[in-house]
Amino acid sequence: MSLGRGYSSPLWPHLAVRVSTAYFHTDYPPLVTIRRVAVIGAGTMGSGIAQVCAQTGWETRLFDAFPESLEKGMRNIDEFWERGISKGKTSSQQKEEWSGNLMAAGEMSVAVEGSDIVIEAVPERIDLKRTIFSQLESIAPSNAVLATNTSSLPISQIASHTGCPERVIGMHFFNPVPLMQLLEIVRHELVHESTISTAKEVGEAMGKTTILVRDVPGFATSRLGVVLGNEAIRMLAEGVASASDIDTAMRLGYRHPMGPLELTDLVGLDVRRDILNSLAEAFDDDSYRPHQLLDKMVESGDLGKKTGRGIYDWTSGEKRER
Ligand SMILES: NC(=O)c1ccc[n+]([C@@H]2O[C@H](COP(=O)([O-])OP(=O)(O)OC[C@H]3O[C@@H](n4cnc5c(N)ncnc54)[C@H](O)[C@@H]3O)[C@@H](O)[C@H]2O)c1
Repeated sequence: MSLGRGYSSPLWPHLAVRVSTAYFHTDYPPLVTIRRVAVIGAGTMGSGIAQVCAQTGWETRLFDAFPESLEKGMRNIDEFWERGISKGKTSSQQKEEWSGNLMAAGEMSVAVEGSDIVIEAVPERIDLKRTIFSQLESIAPSNAVLATNTSSLPISQIASHTGCPERVIGMHFFNPVPLMQLLEIVRHELVHESTISTAKEVGEAMGKTTILVRDVPGFATSRLGVVLGNEAIRMLAEGVASASDIDTAMRLGYRHPMGPLELTDLVGLDVRRDILNSLAEAFDDDSYRPHQLLDKMVESGDLGKKTGRGIYDWTSGEKRER
């Protein structure tokens, strides 16, 4: 068995990402040493994933189809690091090093060139993700792992749309990526074991605790999370209690670190609506459908913290009841 040279992270030097090539009879799995990562989609999740990859010491390229979103994603990362400096959690020198690892790519082909792993974080729409993966199959290196950060879509439905399902995998990060400990790795029937081990090692090098979950709609996390959030919105619409009282109920009554409505604002109302719709379709069960208040807010552009208004008003920088 031959081993890659391995990479030591400046943050977690004890971890080396090293993937063995135990299978000599095919071109896949290849000898993989993670050096370069591409992240597709520079929104809430993509920018967080790219940030942590850059901090891990990998050459990281971030791409978004919309230049203004790419700019915003890069700005958010920069501001996160600046806040870290002002709080004394990191140094300017460290930030400079991390910034040097990160590049905004104007073209997807530039982003994925030479990459060992591509992590996709575009909106939760199966058609869009399939299109991206078809493109990735032809433009990314033939040995690159192709990961999707989908919160709910069946990985098999994305993987089977490519000619290389064995290297497609779910890597479900949580928001905000730099702070959240969990990485849910989702395996589908055609994935190669070495793709799973690469995803796990990449996650661990990024400082995450990984769990391995079967490819069922909503996996182990999103299904429970969105149902709770949707029910909280229904209760808000029914006037059961104010948004902050519903949130306080779960924080103090059930020890949730954050209430379900505030969490919905943090995740993005559009993201949660998309997940609910995809669960309703996957399970053929309308009880998963988003409440009409959620639909209405998404249609009026109130998407949560990222747009300044959602269940709460965030325009002052603080959470305010609407
Ligand atoms: N927001 C969360 O809390 C959260 C948590 C876990 C997983 N996810 C999943 O992560 C994915 C992204 O979610 P998000 O919250 O970051 O969404 P977002 O809307 O914040 O970001 C999506 C980004 O993708 C870009 N984009 C759209 N079409 C594109 C294309 N064709 N090519 C490249 N970029 C494109 C958009 O411009 C946008 O910047 C979704 O699958 C979502 O379900 C979200």
